[in-house]
Amino acid sequence: MKILVVGSGGREHALCWGIAKSPLCDGLYCAPGNAGIAAVAECLPIAADDKTGLIAACEKYEIDFVVIGPDAQLEQGLADAVRELELPCFGPNRDAAEIEWSKGFMKDLCARQGVPTAAYQRFTDVDAACAYVREKNKESGGAPIVVKADGLAAGKGVTVARTVNEALAAIDAAMTGHAFGDAGNAVVIEEFMEGEEVSFFVLCDGETAQFFTTAQDHKAVGDGDKGPNTGGMGAYSPSPIVGEALRIQIMNEIILPTLDGLREMGRPFSGILYAGLMMTKSGPRVIEFNARFGDPETQVMVPRLKSDLLALLYGCAKGMLDVIDIEWYDVAALTVVMATKGYPGSYGKGSVIKGLDRADAVDDAMVFHAGTKAEPDGTLTANGGRVLCITAIGANVAEAQQRAYQAVDLIDWPEGFCRRDIGWRAIGK
Ligand code: AMP
Ligand code: GLY
Repeated sequence: MKILVVGSGGREHALCWGIAKSPLCDGLYCAPGNAGIAAVAECLPIAADDKTGLIAACEKYEIDFVVIGPDAQLEQGLADAVRELELPCFGPNRDAAEIEWSKGFMKDLCARQGVPTAAYQRFTDVDAACAYVREKNKESGGAPIVVKADGLAAGKGVTVARTVNEALAAIDAAMTGHAFGDAGNAVVIEEFMEGEEVSFFVLCDGETAQFFTTAQDHKAVGDGDKGPNTGGMGAYSPSPIVGEALRIQIMNEIILPTLDGLREMGRPFSGILYAGLMMTKSGPRVIEFNARFGDPETQVMVPRLKSDLLALLYGCAKGMLDVIDIEWYDVAALTVVMATKGYPGSYGKGSVIKGLDRADAVDDAMVFHAGTKAEPDGTLTANGGRVLCITAIGANVAEAQQRAYQAVDLIDWPEGFCRRDIGWRAIGK
């Protein structure tokens, strides 16, 4: 079959890499893709948010199956539009994806279904938001407390404020300074949850849900998890802290009630549900739900997958998950994100990257591209914040880490940086 993957990040590179290996794949297109994706798929110069262009491409290239990577396209109803063409699509419709794009919807659903999550309040008025933080401070000590822009902000709209002043500054930056554009017109102020974070992935075809796997992400920009949050600076999979008993507890107490709630609302979820969980002293609690694959988590899940990725995604889209088995290699995978200096703040574009072939040649290592661009003269340049995801597999996280950094060290990119401690928690255990 002919497949169109929508998106241009490291996640989409990993998806294309996995799909291209499938014997079911007779043609793979990616819109718009990136310089790395171009090695495994034909990149179409259509922006991910050009719904009309993408729908026209489905007809022009006789696409049989569409896989949607990013959340923004789910919010824009791309899956609905593809299904209107009677094409199978991986990714939920806009109404089911609301679990990701609206914090309020997600919190109400959790409350109705008894799914544990942090207490929160939403504000559209900057003074009211600040007054709430000051009030909390009188009651119980106002910090730590979490301030979030209420819209999609590429993982950067969240401040875990350690002090009241930091919380007030974050409210001001989002609401008055428009640091996250319109996403900050409203803020959510949330109870702080203490613990280790896990990304928990479940495939669902609208009826049947199947556990996929787990991963752990490093959100903060700096070593030791210091500095502002990013879209993710590295990850490993599987999570060593989610054993069989915890996995069953999470499915029963969090995932299944959530999927049931969506189904009861007439919004069955078809695609991958990604629960961001905090493992607190009182058990797992939801930080957020995403309606798509994680980035960079996908870069550490796909290389571990023994099953045919395309068959899985297509089976999910066709409502056949009840007859599909998911198999994994018994390995750990780890990815190190290389970003342009300045990220997650402002950064330049166009710096030259060399040495990727050497990095790719390291045993059991692979380079997934995120924000890269192939220039007309053949050089590769940085074209975004998160630029490369250097991934490796190994018998355990420590071995995968050693190989990933061996590959990182072969890359010649003075304008790039990465964390040097991806996987530290798992390796310390
Ligand atoms: P989100 O975009 O909601 O996933 O938040 C981004 C990151 O902020 C999460 O991955 C956590 O590290 C942190 N975070 C968000 N909400 C909370 C919370 N209520 N308590 C503690 N940390 C949080
Ligand atoms: N790794 C975080 C995300 O994909 O949202």
